[in-house]
Amino acid sequence: MEKLVIEGGYTLKGKVEVSGSKNASLPIIAATILCDGEYKIDNVPNLRDVRTLLKLLSLLNIESRLDRSKVLLKNKNDNGAYEAPYDLVKTMRASILVLGPLLAKRRKARVSLPGGCAIGERPVDQHIKALKQMGATIDIEHGYIVAECDSLKGADIYFDLVTVTGTENVLMAAVLAKGKTTIYNAAIEPEVIDLANFLIKMGAKIEGVGTKTITVYGVDSLSPANYSVMNDRIEAATLMCAAAITGGDVEIVGVPQEYLTTVFEKLSETGVNIEFVDDKKVRVYSLGRLKAADVTTQVYPGFPTDLQAQFMALMCVADGVSVVTETIFENRFMHVAELKRMGADIRLKDRSAVVNGVKRLSGAHVMASDLRASASLVIAGLVAEGETHVHRIYHLDRGYEFFDKKLNGLGAKIKREKNGV
Ligand code: EPZ
Repeated sequence: MEKLVIEGGYTLKGKVEVSGSKNASLPIIAATILCDGEYKIDNVPNLRDVRTLLKLLSLLNIESRLDRSKVLLKNKNDNGAYEAPYDLVKTMRASILVLGPLLAKRRKARVSLPGGCAIGERPVDQHIKALKQMGATIDIEHGYIVAECDSLKGADIYFDLVTVTGTENVLMAAVLAKGKTTIYNAAIEPEVIDLANFLIKMGAKIEGVGTKTITVYGVDSLSPANYSVMNDRIEAATLMCAAAITGGDVEIVGVPQEYLTTVFEKLSETGVNIEFVDDKKVRVYSLGRLKAADVTTQVYPGFPTDLQAQFMALMCVADGVSVVTETIFENRFMHVAELKRMGADIRLKDRSAVVNGVKRLSGAHVMASDLRASASLVIAGLVAEGETHVHRIYHLDRGYEFFDKKLNGLGAKIKREKNGV
């Protein structure tokens, strides 16, 4: 397994580009199941998760070629395949996103239950409940969701809680359903908006995009469309945390600023300076030690759960005590034990971590457990004394395109080695 070896103590300076959004690319790629034909999707990050989904689509007779950040897809026709096998789904739970479009277009789906992951149980009961309301018969057999329908029909869907991929699955199911679907308590994350805009380009009739109540008027058919995916707001914010923790001065190009106001606010509270160079460029620089600030993760537009671990790394060396509260996932503190191995002073209490900032972290061997925890450990390693070995770095590669290369381009000293554990 691969690991990253980070030599701490280097200040980040220079310019870095943000890649396309992982969490917008995945549902948009899944949506190509909805219509035969050829698609050109731009600004797709070259990530393990993207490659896994493209491999899954190839089983469904949708060929693709990922050429740098451009994906050319060819949905040849409905070859009657409708299965998302366990061996692929277990490596990427977002495979659940093929459920809605397979039911809508092929009337059948056999998708492995994603199962849990490091950050929580990750149930999909809301997805199943909604699709049943739209006329699908769904059973769970041998660890698979087995679903079929004569044709989906529009329905009023009330989500018990805000679910990003749940909203996305229902959107993709509803665009070809018979009649009107209204989704109440819908997720309003920017990635959901990007998917809806792609579906509209394909000819879908959707109202209320970006609001908590979305109405979809089913159409008989769609057409393939080309699209350029939004930039990754979480990668942009992660790069800001990396620049800030080193006391650096970095210009980040391609920041989707309109989607990061809460994050800008919180980082400014810690003393990070944020300068808006233009509508896509942000200069991040910090002078001296950051100040502790409390944070609570919320659904959009609140502070994103996908940035909680990275922000905690920042607070580990801030001046004062910060309370980091995670309200979205029940187990998203796997990075805490690893940060403590680096000398962080953190105490867990219920859904919160109380972080008492220390002057210096010390480099250590640490284990990545999930995508954002990996980024948190890398950020901590940038300022730790000596070398930090972040093992099982495949977690990082699932969601960050060339992250170590990007940081080295800013003056970090990171090596990728094969002999991880
Ligand atoms: C999406 O996951 C993102 N993944 C996650 O990003 C992100 O952390 C999450 O939304 C929250 O913003 C993708 O978009 C591919 P949810 P998703 O359904 O859709 C519970 C990353 O790091 N829930 O919004 O799976 C669930 O357990 C990843 O890029 C149910 O109980 O998250 C959680 O507590 C990690 N039943 C909460 O809702 C359901 O049927 C929010 O989950 C569905 C969800």
